[in-house]
Amino acid sequence: MSLLGSIINGVLSIVGALTQQQTNGAPNTGVIRSYDFTVSRGQIAPDGYQKDVLLINNQFPGPLIEANWGDTIQVTVHNQISNPSEGTSMHWHGLLQKGTPWYDGIPSVGQCPIAPGSSFTYTFQASLYGTTWYHSHYSAQYAGGLFGPLIIHGPSNAQYDIDLGPVMINDWYHEEYFSILESVVDPGGNPRPASDNNLINGKMDFDCSTKAAGDNTPCTDNAGLSRFKFTTGKTHRLRFINGGSQGIQRISIDQHNMTIIANDFVPIPTPEAPPQHSGCAPTFPPPAVPQTNPTPWQPSTTTKPTRPRPPPAKPWNIPDPGTCANDDLSLSVPYYSITPPTPATTKELSISFYVNETGNFLWTLGGTSFRGNYNHPVLSQAQAGNLSFPAEWNVQNFGTNSSVRIVVNNLTPASHPMHLHGHNMEILSEGPGSWDGSSITNPSNPIRRDVQLVRANGHMVMQYDTDNPDSDSGCADMYELDELYE
Ligand SMILES: *[C@@H]1O[C@H](CO)[C@@H](O)[C@H](O)[C@H]1NC(C)=O
Ligand SMILES: *[C@@H]1O[C@H](CO)[C@@H](O)[C@H](O)[C@H]1NC(C)=O
Ligand SMILES: *[C@@H]1O[C@H](CO)[C@@H](O)[C@H](O)[C@H]1NC(C)=O
Ligand SMILES: *[C@@H]1O[C@H](CO)[C@@H](O)[C@H](O)[C@H]1NC(C)=O
Repeated sequence: MSLLGSIINGVLSIVGALTQQQTNGAPNTGVIRSYDFTVSRGQIAPDGYQKDVLLINNQFPGPLIEANWGDTIQVTVHNQISNPSEGTSMHWHGLLQKGTPWYDGIPSVGQCPIAPGSSFTYTFQASLYGTTWYHSHYSAQYAGGLFGPLIIHGPSNAQYDIDLGPVMINDWYHEEYFSILESVVDPGGNPRPASDNNLINGKMDFDCSTKAAGDNTPCTDNAGLSRFKFTTGKTHRLRFINGGSQGIQRISIDQHNMTIIANDFVPIPTPEAPPQHSGCAPTFPPPAVPQTNPTPWQPSTTTKPTRPRPPPAKPWNIPDPGTCANDDLSLSVPYYSITPPTPATTKELSISFYVNETGNFLWTLGGTSFRGNYNHPVLSQAQAGNLSFPAEWNVQNFGTNSSVRIVVNNLTPASHPMHLHGHNMEILSEGPGSWDGSSITNPSNPIRRDVQLVRANGHMVMQYDTDNPDSDSGCADMYELDELYE
């Protein structure tokens, strides 16, 4: 868990029988996909309510990054955040960064923040395929708008006619992110403030009459919704991304069944009867009015023309399988089977919290509240051969163990999305209370995830092989486990 402040259209056709080798190693296309990102402050009103935000190339959400499996993605980030200036960094969510841990984008773990006024180029391989996103990993900047979609085209395990592209969904706070952060860590503050809205591809309506009394922020009703073009009788691929800072999302499309074809970067087979899929929080009406691809946000200059309103939502009744829990693990198995070995070592890490001497609320993982040092990343110290880390860096040294099982017991009444960098976690167990020490769901081929929710007062058991070394330092697996609420 890191500190509060830090934290596809198949271009190739269906490949029925990829070998195990291919599932672990991407092809090397030699193609470089270059992007240039200028990060700066700006003001937008994606739901009609004007807000100070951080933008990439003046866009929100940030530009779509697209590549084919095996390409090299190269992104130069120019930090032009000023008044006040801040560091920044960019994390490429779910990419393994094999051989390139220093491009994972985590200040205090793999790099120093990109200083104000300077630039940094990330270069890494599109080693997995599917749908993901990138986001700032500095402070809570992504609650301020610093994120965007990332698609890697590759083999597809499902037939579909139309790729509707990314559907980014995120909670949206009208308060500027830094002041939220201050209130989150303030004595007597709210560690989990509620958001004001929920955006789909950076758009949503907001009822300006619900603004707090005395709030003079400019606000426009009926700012507009994202629209998608559905064709009757065709099968559509939707790439859902939760780009929110805290909100767990629960997705359904009125009166239509969805078939889940991939969780994170892990393709899953398409069963005859589609599993019901859920997270938690609101359901959405279908984006009903035909239009071509969703348009990126543009500053509003003139009064918007009146658009037809979508019909009222008739959401499915899909009960939450727990208290804000992912689906039952037994419902999903990966397309490519991997059987986890008996782990070489097992570690239990409990999630808890405490109030420190100055009255600040702090989350802990394994008894430690993480506090990194932006000037001294873990990776560079390890590369220098010094493995004596300050306790508050919360470094777990698994030595030469070939596989690691981690039992996360959540002793708090709040669910937490757990996310391991550098690996797809094999999720062995998830449920209420503590793990019984032996139950494993689908032991011969457990679901693999980039992010897994550990439910409130529940547990999650995950395992990974230590197959992602930093070749320069000879250190196995310098990767962080974080809680995505940052
Ligand atoms: C959705 O799937 C269920 C279970 O297979 C089926 O009974 C129902 O008819 C389907 N509904 C639609 C609208 O396809
Ligand atoms: C308590 O935590 C806050 C927030 O991380 C920090 O600013 C403060 O220095 C801590 N207090 C002590 C006494 O360590
Ligand atoms: C190793 O790093 C720690 C802090 O990260 C530092 O206190 C210590 O002096 C370093 N040891 C050596 C031998 O450089
Ligand atoms: C395996 O990991 C444990 C920590 O869980 C560590 O104490 C032990 O030294 C490691 N063993 C090897 C052989 O590196």
